[in-house]
Amino acid sequence: MSNLLDHKSLIKLTKKRLPMKGNKDLITVLNSLLADELTVINQYMVHSEMCENWGYSKLHMAIRKQAMDEMHHAEWLIERIIFFEGAPTVSKLNPIKIGKTVSEIINNDNDDELETVHAYNEGIKLALEVKDQGSVDLLTKILKMEEDHVDWAEMQRAQIDQMGMENYLVNQTESPIK
Ligand SMILES: [Fe+2]
Ligand SMILES: [Fe+2]
Repeated sequence: MSNLLDHKSLIKLTKKRLPMKGNKDLITVLNSLLADELTVINQYMVHSEMCENWGYSKLHMAIRKQAMDEMHHAEWLIERIIFFEGAPTVSKLNPIKIGKTVSEIINNDNDDELETVHAYNEGIKLALEVKDQGSVDLLTKILKMEEDHVDWAEMQRAQIDQMGMENYLVNQTESPIK
């Protein structure tokens, strides 16, 4: 009889949906990463349009694609914060660093990407500490994309070093759509 009662209460327990409250520190970190993402979305959109205005179509498309990657990151972070019943902060931006030249644009974006890679590594460390595998997986997925962004910026800097800015810019004027 007592076994039957236990079984019944077990069913009752499993049917009752427990609220999925996230770790407070982790939600703070997710919100800080969200501020980083929202900042670079704005920065990259401006940079991408500046390149378009100068006729550097390849550069415009590459930076525009990165802005879109960052939008996905912001969306995934918001989704995770809401899943944890936290409040996503979308009104906070870090200083936006608009470059005046192509060289400044690439350097500013590269600096931000390096900081972002560091911030995601720190976030993953915390998610591991609080044993939140879902957040570890999400932050690792974003980290890999950020590393690709660093790679891209470093490649541009190497090309500028090797072929000189003028030759580099001539290459950026070709339309990617033939
Ligand atoms: Fe991002
Ligand atoms: Fe990025």
